Amino acid sequence: MSGIGSVTISLDGSNKSSKLPLIGGTVGPPVADIRKIYNDLGIFTYDPGYGATASCESKITYIDGDEGVLLYRGYPIEQLAEKSTFLEVAYLLLNGELPNAAEAKEFDTGVRMHTMLHEQLRVFYNGFRRDAHPMAVMCGVVGALSAFYHDSLDINNPEHRRISAFRMIAKVPTIAAWAHKYNVGQPFMYPQNDLGYAENFLYMFNAVPAEPYRVNPILARAMDLIMILHADHEQNASTSTVRLAGSTGANPFACIAAGIASLWGPAHGGANEAVLHKLGEIGHVKNIPTFLEQVKDKNSKVKLMGFGHRVYKNFDPRAKIMQATCHQVLGELGIKHDPLLELAMELEKIALHDDYFVSRKLYPNVDFYSGIILKAMGFPLSMFTALFAVSRTVGWISQWQEMIADPEQRIGRPRQIYTGAAQRDYVPLDRRD
Ligand code: CMC
Repeated sequence: MSGIGSVTISLDGSNKSSKLPLIGGTVGPPVADIRKIYNDLGIFTYDPGYGATASCESKITYIDGDEGVLLYRGYPIEQLAEKSTFLEVAYLLLNGELPNAAEAKEFDTGVRMHTMLHEQLRVFYNGFRRDAHPMAVMCGVVGALSAFYHDSLDINNPEHRRISAFRMIAKVPTIAAWAHKYNVGQPFMYPQNDLGYAENFLYMFNAVPAEPYRVNPILARAMDLIMILHADHEQNASTSTVRLAGSTGANPFACIAAGIASLWGPAHGGANEAVLHKLGEIGHVKNIPTFLEQVKDKNSKVKLMGFGHRVYKNFDPRAKIMQATCHQVLGELGIKHDPLLELAMELEKIALHDDYFVSRKLYPNVDFYSGIILKAMGFPLSMFTALFAVSRTVGWISQWQEMIADPEQRIGRPRQIYTGAAQRDYVPLDRRD
């Protein structure tokens, strides 16, 4: 972060002005540091949805929304998707550099050592209804980790932070797989630490104790890739939620549970599930025009889920990779014609030429194709967002770690434009109209 000039704001009708430092990052637009604007001018700034507000300094992920670029620690997502693995990406996000062979081995061992859950957590699952949504279970169980791992809750102790990070990255696949097993009434499968990260997750999700189970390596690679694509995404809603919760000094397990809750909404991670619901409702290519009429009707509140993004005004680079992976996975599974994929591709084709979407720069995002892959891999719709949460946990922890180490970090405490009643006197009940 470096000073690159200043911007002066003057208050019309007064002689007051404020000279604000302009800060430059490595790439991206300059940022006006408005911290002294209230002292200088007595005014707040207003930016609902934070469309023009940098909430923090970060060295982790960069997005150029106009060009459709996504970098983790400077590395393009396309290169990481092709050449790396999820655990290597996890190391990169957490530590800033790709690991050498010894560091990669040590990190891998660190994650493997923590995959089991405290046995008492099994009992915790029994408190949920059998039909509980896996995201509801994940919010609860991840939050409950803070009641089980007291020995790593001191956020000011770097060793505690390190162990908590390992614990969460290692345990979220187990937590998510068990949420599914609980839904379907099958025994919980314990992790097998000789398996890779994505492989282990697929094993715990699919296997049953009565049968041997071998994870399909092509599907394990596809799962690993999906995890890489979802690992981090700058200051999105759930990451900002984690940072805001963390800014109060809350423990990391509680912060990640807050992130999971935020991810659940259909405007964010819940979109992958919503896309499939919507494709199911549309049902057939012939119904696309009627559906698009509804989307364009402002009174209908219908959206084309999996399209549009606050930052990308071009193709989401993750969506391109996801689309290619979708074809590979369906090919591997011997699915020659998938009606949902055909419907999605036709919908995409029509939308990309429709003036409503073109003029608003609405392109497919990561969620448009991920649901189709996950469905083909045998995941129920309710697991889609849970898988997103498993993958994003590493991004949340990296961002939380960065925030704790940031000397500029303060409690997050936005202000408001108050438009309610001005001060008035209490009226006793017998004198009210
Ligand atoms: N379908 C139809 N119209 C849309 C869509 C959509 N998916 N997305 C945006 N618009 C319209 C919106 O109605 C508005 O139109 P107008 O200017 O006439 O009022 C215009 O495009 C600008 O949209 P916005 O609501 O101001 O954009 P935003 O930055 O506040 O919202 C978004 C971004 C992702 C929440 C939104 O595009 C959306 O709801 N998309 C569908 C849900 C979705 O796919 N979410 C996943 C996002 S990527 C993964 C993740 O973050 O988890």
